[in-house]
Amino acid sequence: MLSEKIQNAINLQINAELYSSYLYVAMAMYFESVDMSGAAKWMNSQAQEELVHADKFMHYVNERGGRVILEAIEKPPVEWKSVLDAFEAALEHERKVSSLINDLVTLAREENDHMSDNFLQWYIAEQVEEEASAGEVVRKLKLIGDSGSGRFMIDNELGQRVFVPAAGSGE
Ligand code: FEO
Repeated sequence: MLSEKIQNAINLQINAELYSSYLYVAMAMYFESVDMSGAAKWMNSQAQEELVHADKFMHYVNERGGRVILEAIEKPPVEWKSVLDAFEAALEHERKVSSLINDLVTLAREENDHMSDNFLQWYIAEQVEEEASAGEVVRKLKLIGDSGSGRFMIDNELGQRVFVPAAGSGE
């Protein structure tokens, strides 16, 4: 049985994961509006991954005899200054999520909840990937600067991404 403290904290995290998905859909729509369909595809895949993150948490709460409480999802921004600006915001957001996951692990340890601690380790590993993939795109976008052909090439590369649920992301 989950303690009320852990249940509440995980419910907040479910909201954060759903917001992440909403934010990335908003970014994908922005990319489409500036003719970066590859970047839009990349971000849509990222949005789907976030739904997997939320889903995994929701099943865990139920498995442990808790209750999932869904709260309202905050409205994401509509516009960014540039594609680079949006990816920098995505990286910043992922760093924030990593810090939330770290806090959850700390709480699980304080509550002596080894099951939650163990469950959360999947997210710790996942956050390494999340930060690395957004960071890689930021670095590439900085490298190409204002180059139109560079922009064309990176959009093409980003468009190759296909959503594949991470191993162990099932319920
Ligand atoms: Fe679910 Fe991108 O963190």
